[in-house]
Amino acid sequence: MDKITVSAPGKLMLLGEHAVVYGHPCLVTAVEQRLKVTVEKSNTNGLTLNAPDVSVNDYYKPIAQLGNGEIPKGAKFVEIAVLNFFQKHKFSDGLKITTNSEFSSQFGFGSSSASTVCVVKALFELFEIKTTPKEIFDLSYKTVLDIQKTGSGFDVAAAVYGGVLYFITGGKVIEPIIAGDLPLLVAYSGVKADTVSMINLVKEKMQTHKEGVEEIFKNIANLVEEGKIALMEKDWQRLGTLMNFNQNYLEDLGVSTEKLDDMVLAARKAGAFGAKLSGAGGGDCMIAVVPEEKRKNIEEAIKSVGGEILDVKVSNEGVKIEI
Ligand code: MEV
Repeated sequence: MDKITVSAPGKLMLLGEHAVVYGHPCLVTAVEQRLKVTVEKSNTNGLTLNAPDVSVNDYYKPIAQLGNGEIPKGAKFVEIAVLNFFQKHKFSDGLKITTNSEFSSQFGFGSSSASTVCVVKALFELFEIKTTPKEIFDLSYKTVLDIQKTGSGFDVAAAVYGGVLYFITGGKVIEPIIAGDLPLLVAYSGVKADTVSMINLVKEKMQTHKEGVEEIFKNIANLVEEGKIALMEKDWQRLGTLMNFNQNYLEDLGVSTEKLDDMVLAARKAGAFGAKLSGAGGGDCMIAVVPEEKRKNIEEAIKSVGGEILDVKVSNEGVKIEI
């Protein structure tokens, strides 16, 4: 095989962000929007990358130099994924890689982890090495850690497995939850968040207020355990209430923003079962669980405080071969 196209879904955190970085569980869902990566063998001695969504055009690096020198931000995850795969499986072929996304990298849907997962899966296929989802997870998570130095890996798991997952740090537990048609509403706050700086902000809080932060994390972990049951029972009212509690804890941690608070409040006032920020905070998206008959009103309420409604549905499909 000389060429393959693979796709993986984006993700949204339902409950448990930040606590999951410290060994606690979270609940994450994959979304319908996908990122596609085409990988083909080339007769150059290097990696050529085109990733127009992140302004990378005809980037070239000799295979022997992978991981060395300046790497543009938009090329990092692909380059290090190739390096990790080649080092582990002893290849050094020239490659041409093209990525294409159905969602903007602004939204915090996990485009970096989705592209990493696609590259790793594509390379296993292209070089005809038998693999398992857990192996794809492990190599992709290593890649993310090599670059970010931090992160729980929940976004990598969503891209590999799809669907709704109960997830514990580093993939210690990755459990699919059958949640049916989760009535989710998603809106963008207009600000791109920087995950690593938000993780560091919480780390500083942990240093100055250890007991308080640990208490918050324990409470968030309890919400996740209850949320897992609410999801399995399709009890959206209860899930909404848990999201509201989770938002309060995230505000206590200092990761929400005025805009996110306004959007969350607007959603609740207009009849959402519950609403919260989703992800690292500092911007990106908010999510709400909503009664369908009130969806339109809730959307209007969020728009009236400056939120942008995104057409996002949960998806069961993890990483897969396209052609
Ligand atoms: C970021 O989307 C969610 C965090 O929990 C980070 C992580 O789990 O890797 C803040």
